[in-house]
Formats: sequence, C-alpha cells, structure tokens
Amino acid sequence: MAPTFEYLSIAWRGDIDGHLELLDQTKLPLTLEIQPYRDVESLFEAIVSLRVRGAPAIGIAAAYGVVIAAQKVIEEPLASAAAAILTQCDYLATSRPTAVNLFWALDRMRKIVDRNKGLSDSEELTRALLREARLIHEEDRRMCHAIGAYGASLLRDATGVLTHCNTGGLATSEYGTALSAILTAQDQGHVLQVYADETRPLLQGARLTAWELQQRGIPCTLICDSMAAQVMREGRVQAVIVGADRITARGDTANKIGTYSLAVLAKYHSIPFYVAAPTSTFDLSLVSGDDIPIEQRKSTEITHGFGSQTAPMHIEVYNPAFDVTPAELITAIITERGIIAPVSESKVRSMLS
Ligand code: MRU
Repeated sequence: MAPTFEYLSIAWRGDIDGHLELLDQTKLPLTLEIQPYRDVESLFEAIVSLRVRGAPAIGIAAAYGVVIAAQKVIEEPLASAAAAILTQCDYLATSRPTAVNLFWALDRMRKIVDRNKGLSDSEELTRALLREARLIHEEDRRMCHAIGAYGASLLRDATGVLTHCNTGGLATSEYGTALSAILTAQDQGHVLQVYADETRPLLQGARLTAWELQQRGIPCTLICDSMAAQVMREGRVQAVIVGADRITARGDTANKIGTYSLAVLAKYHSIPFYVAAPTSTFDLSLVSGDDIPIEQRKSTEITHGFGSQTAPMHIEVYNPAFDVTPAELITAIITERGIIAPVSESKVRSMLS
C-alpha cells in the first residue's frame, strides 16, 4: 500500500454558509499554504494565476464558485438570484479557455439553476447547487481511481515511465489521472521509476509532480523537457503517460505544451504513448484538435520566470500553454469507463455513449 498521504487541494468547509479552501499551487513545493475563498472574483484570479490548476480541479473549483455566487444573492427572490448566478457562471467560464472540464462543470451547475425554478426560495437553490458541486467533486474522486486501475494494467510490463506536467491529486480530487495509474501500480506492489519533465515554462512537473511523488514515496527523476529524447534512447522508459485538457471526438488531445513533442518522440522510439483522462475531459462537439482553443499566456512567464529576468527587454514571445497531439500518435486513451484503443472516432463515441 502507498504510504498514508493526505492533502486536499480543494475542500468545501461547512454547509451553504461555508467557504471554499484551495491549496495554493503557486507556492509549492516550498510552502503548503491553504487559502479560503468567499468571493467569485478571488476564485477567478486563483484560476487565472494557476493557484488552482489541472483540468478536473479547475472544474471542481468553478462548481464551488457557483455556490459562492449563490451565497451572495441568497436573500434575493429566486428569479433575480438565478439570473445573477447564471451571470457569474458566464464570468467564471472566461477564466481559462482550453480545459473543457471548466465548461462541463459550469454547464452542470447552470442546469441545476434552470431545473430548480419552482423552488420556494434562493436558499433552497443554494443548497441544490452545493449538492451538485459536491457530487462533481466526489465523482471525480471515483473516476480517478477507476482510471488508475485501467492505467496500471497497461503499465504492468514497464519499469520506467515518463510523464509531463502535473496530473496528480493537486490537479484533481485525489489520485489524479496519469499519476493515478502510477499510484495504483504502487498500491498493487509495482513501483515504477518515474521520469518527470520539469514542464516549461511554469514548472508544474518540477514543482508539483516531483513533490507529489516524493510525498508518496515513488522514485522520481526530474528532467528538463529537452532531455526526454535522450531518456527514451537510453531505454529508461517503456511508456509515456500524460493527462489531458480537452479530447475531441476523434481523440485529438490538448494537453500542457510539450506533450505533442513527447508523442512524436515516443513514436520514433516505439514507446507506447498513453493519455489518461475522465470522460468530463472529452468534447464531442469537436472532431479536429485544430478547433480546440489554445490558451496564450503572458510573455513574462518566459522572460521573467519566477521573478528573475532571463531574456532581453521587449523581446517578442510566443507562449501557448497547450498543444494538440493528433490521435494517430496516441496508443490508448484511458478513461474511467475503460481503455480506448486504437484511438478512433467510432471507439471514442461508443465509449462515451
Ligand atoms: O496549465 P495547467 O497546469 O492547468 O495545465 C494542466 C495540464 O495540462 C494537465 O496535464 C491536465 O490538465 C491534466 S490534469 C489531470
């Protein structure tokens, strides 16, 4: 069994008059700082500045954000409260564009507002919204464990795996997606050597994945993103496993910038390339990955990473936060419902139907 390790990246404290707590991921690995959230604007800032990040975690946090929005109008008549809550849903939806879990969770919350127009008052609506947010949170926990079980079965013959960005408990509700496969393998007595890409420019791999794996007693070797080819060539990894921010109907997958190059490298070295994600990360309204909106982030993340200037002033910068890996480079997509392989539109649609 994995060593006991408990931290909560997202927690709702109390009842409908309670508040949201987030572990500030920008402070890791140096400081474990938990902040309370009682207004939608601060939560919006937390999502934009990656205090809470990772596709499922953004969705869960936004769902609780809708409960906070409802608290603010709890004294108002139901119709005007409902209208105000829907406006705040629209606002939260503008925080980050790529991870579809955000829109998926907000749509679920909007449906609760729409379905509950006949309630007696806004307090009842707030209660219904909190129930739904908690359900989204709990469902994610269960989905992650199921993904882990399927994922671990694919890693049975591997001794080393390479991963990118952070897909663990910080990015989700508990075990994670790609990391869940690694943690579940550990629970089953199969301890993998993990190579973690540092994940430029914001170092989610170095700051978060390396920290999480260390906390859980899983051997982790940190590498710069540019070292992946050499690690593969030396035969150190027998699989690559990553998470996802949005997967289209044909399996094209948006994930943290640098994922696509790993998939190309894996193909060249004949190493299986796995994507692990819950069904809440699929966007069946899109077929081609070319249609996934890619977040562009500010240039200072590259020119002034973590405060110190590393590039000349006024240099032009291109900083897409995500890239798209075409389905043909993906060996399998691991979901909580099962494994999609080979990856094709018909297999994706039938797994999600
Ligand atoms: O910009 P981030 O840190 O939110 O990007 C996160 C990722 O790309 C993750 O790999 C993805 O959301 C999967 S998290 C289980």
